[in-house]
Amino acid sequence: MIRKYRYGTPLPTDAVVKEIPAEKGSLPYFSAENGEEGSLRFSISLYPEEVIFGLGQAVRGMDKRGYRYESWNSDVFNHTETTSSLYGSHNFLLFFSPERLLGIYLDDPGRIEWDLGYTRRDRAVITSAGGNLDLYLIEEDNLKGIARAFRELTGRSYLPPRWAFGYIQSRWGYASEAEVRTVVREHRERHIPLDAVCMDIDYMADFKNFTWKPDAFPDLAAFSREMKEDHLRLVPIIDAGIKAEEGYAPYDSGKKGDCFCKKEDGSDFVAAVWPGRCCFPDFLREDVRRWFGDLYRPLLEAGIEGFWNDMNEPALFYSDEGVAEAFDAADRIRAGGVDYETAWWLKDVFTGIANNPEDYRRFYHRVEGKDVRHDLVHNLYGAGMTRAAAEGFRRFRPGERLLLFSRSSFIGAHRNGGIWQGDNFSWWSHLKMALQMLPNLNLCGFLFNGCDLGGFGCNVTEDLLERFLELGVFTPLMRNHSALHTRDQEIYRFSSWEMMRDTVSVRYALLPYLYSEFMKAALRDGMYFRPLAFDWPEDRRAVRVQDQLMLGGDCMIAPVYEQNADGRYVYLPEDMLMIRFRSARDYDLEMLPKGDHRISLALGEFPLFVRKNHVVPLCPGGESSETLDDASFTLIGRIEEEGVYELYRDDGKTSDPDPDSGLTRIPLVPDGKPERNVRI
Ligand code: GLC
Repeated sequence: MIRKYRYGTPLPTDAVVKEIPAEKGSLPYFSAENGEEGSLRFSISLYPEEVIFGLGQAVRGMDKRGYRYESWNSDVFNHTETTSSLYGSHNFLLFFSPERLLGIYLDDPGRIEWDLGYTRRDRAVITSAGGNLDLYLIEEDNLKGIARAFRELTGRSYLPPRWAFGYIQSRWGYASEAEVRTVVREHRERHIPLDAVCMDIDYMADFKNFTWKPDAFPDLAAFSREMKEDHLRLVPIIDAGIKAEEGYAPYDSGKKGDCFCKKEDGSDFVAAVWPGRCCFPDFLREDVRRWFGDLYRPLLEAGIEGFWNDMNEPALFYSDEGVAEAFDAADRIRAGGVDYETAWWLKDVFTGIANNPEDYRRFYHRVEGKDVRHDLVHNLYGAGMTRAAAEGFRRFRPGERLLLFSRSSFIGAHRNGGIWQGDNFSWWSHLKMALQMLPNLNLCGFLFNGCDLGGFGCNVTEDLLERFLELGVFTPLMRNHSALHTRDQEIYRFSSWEMMRDTVSVRYALLPYLYSEFMKAALRDGMYFRPLAFDWPEDRRAVRVQDQLMLGGDCMIAPVYEQNADGRYVYLPEDMLMIRFRSARDYDLEMLPKGDHRISLALGEFPLFVRKNHVVPLCPGGESSETLDDASFTLIGRIEEEGVYELYRDDGKTSDPDPDSGLTRIPLVPDGKPERNVRI
């Protein structure tokens, strides 16, 4: 059951697809009170055993209880355990205890603070800064039911093309066809599977969106064709800001259509990003989304089938106003003399010119005929960009699925694209953070996601990249990405490349299964990754597990995320079959009883746990998703009762596939064997 409560006059957000009339009565469970400057505060007492899932993209554990978070989409290169907000705002929480099961969603595009047992362990206080919102309460019999009801409220998750489940190589710095060809050759010669190469900002002319360097990419259409003949896709980046430069076609057409966000005096708001001074499309307007979506057309016509949208919080490196204010502050201090406190303050003033909260108050959007200050709708910006692109793709490639993933997001954007987890670092703690973010992102509808494998910032080490890949084998987006000036991070750069290649080979052997589980989850409003609590809500041990995840129908993953570990502890809520992978053809099987286990997992070994009466098809040998033979496979699993496994297969590109016609029903018969060969 879903109930809606309206506060103030909420602005449209495009998050919800189901019309629900607002309740007249007062809000149950929470007490609501007015706070300072129009804010609204919702408080609820927490039960001692209550866990809180949700918030999608956020730091810390799967259970969000015990810390304070904010919904405020941020470009946070160096994020740590104390960072309160990341790139997306996903305002959904699920409270779960023996006494209560309750979902709450705040459809509110402004700043929200979530004090989830931070000030007081036994209390959650949610503060909406603007106080204009729709609040939804969701009650169902079980956790999966709440997740499903929430998806029905917000709409079906985005479906990527099947090739997007292949391994993707990316690095900030690839600047020419020749460099991309080298990356491809190094993979192909070593038989490291590969489906796509991302093109970061260096493919553009002067970092200007929708251009490409004429000398480095003289014929993009021919290059993209050449890549496709080798079963590879090019995936260019597009940033949110449009360089303010007369004579640059997207700027000129944007000016003509009056498409950019405005300052109070009616002039275009300007701030710097990679290309220098930029204007920012007002994605909240339908006509602006149409104009921006049209800009993708030349790239689509050049054969491009996938994009990543970036810097769309939006990231603002500086504005002229912000810089002037910082200089003023410096002058004031110069006059008064410096002590350590003023010096520190001054340092903060200068580092604060990037993504300056003041800048987000300097510009306006046009919503329903009114000017709305950006900070009141800040968290919608990236979602608007994703929507503009997706709407354009639907116009130019109707009926087709294209790859689209964004850095910034808001609930609702999950219908139009996936996301990546942003600028992580080559840290072991960020490997664990990526793992823990996955189920909460799924809960909020973002099924297609993954982190920068190996870590974006800092220098990776061989063992860390390998352990990242071992997680990445299972994440829908499996992309190795790293920053300019960091250590080269392509698999072939490392002495243990064969081990890493073997790890990627497992991804390809599992690809038909992972694709099947993903598609079933998306088409049935389910979750691809979920906390163990969703399957064993009565098992208090399982509910507390923070570093193992359920995957698809009936599998579980438990990656190693610690330096020099040669194994880890795993809790099994019931008997399971463990597949310990070393490569697509080299693995061992062991039936393990319910309980705690120390599993030995040397570098290069990683487990997949399969529940009884469930099976995993394995098709070794693929080096690209298109050449993979998925008609014959080994079916792994312990069958004790007759049943059926539904393998979902389709052409991998139709935008609206029929959920049933793609199903091949494979009969499961108790045969006492863990493996059997199947042809379909
Ligand atoms: C941002 C993105 C990163 C990209 C870089 C350069 O930091 O998050 O993925 O490589 O910009 O475009």
